[in-house]
Amino acid sequence: MVGVEVGTSAGENACEVLDQWKEISRLFCIDSYPVYSDFNKQEAQATMLYCAISNFITHPRAYLILDTSITAAERFQPGTFDFAYIDANHSYDFVKQDILSWLPKIKKGGVIGGHDFDWKDTENGKEYSVRNAVRDVFGDRVLYSEKLFTPEAKTTDDTGRYTGLNSDWWVYL
Ligand SMILES: C[S@@+](CC[C@H](N)C(=O)[O-])C[C@H]1O[C@@H](n2cnc3c(N)ncnc32)[C@H](O)[C@@H]1O
Repeated sequence: MVGVEVGTSAGENACEVLDQWKEISRLFCIDSYPVYSDFNKQEAQATMLYCAISNFITHPRAYLILDTSITAAERFQPGTFDFAYIDANHSYDFVKQDILSWLPKIKKGGVIGGHDFDWKDTENGKEYSVRNAVRDVFGDRVLYSEKLFTPEAKTTDDTGRYTGLNSDWWVYL
């Protein structure tokens, strides 16, 4: 099984996925470590890259690619991946473009998904940028935590943002 994580940061999620899912032979991990907001200062991004390299030393099935999401996608043939996990820039245009770039690279019968379905893009003053982009591409085909987990498992923070077991979204292709 071959997968791709778009937006890898320190590689924590990638390592967890590889530890849990032994069937994965290769997990391509895409990150350009861009400085695109106050949150991502240059020094912090350099530290993330250092951590990813350190983490991947013990995870040789991880293949780190230092490139932007869109240009990295161009390196792969259509139908290469069993799954793609989108977790890079969470603003609407980026999420939508990431989905459209990676979608053709996934096999029929594969899965595309991502993180932070309930993300609030406060920097750009837009609510639910991830959710809106995902829904605009896939409509009702999206599976997400509110559907996957029982109401009892749901929790929210003071702003009403969903902080349940996770806020992943998935679409079976
Ligand atoms: C939310 S973090 C990823 C967290 C990681 N998936 C985890 O759970 O451990 C988002 C990452 O996406 C990267 N990123 C943002 N925009 C990107 C782009 N256009 N191309 C590649 N990487 C990008 C950032 O550098 C950052 O490390």
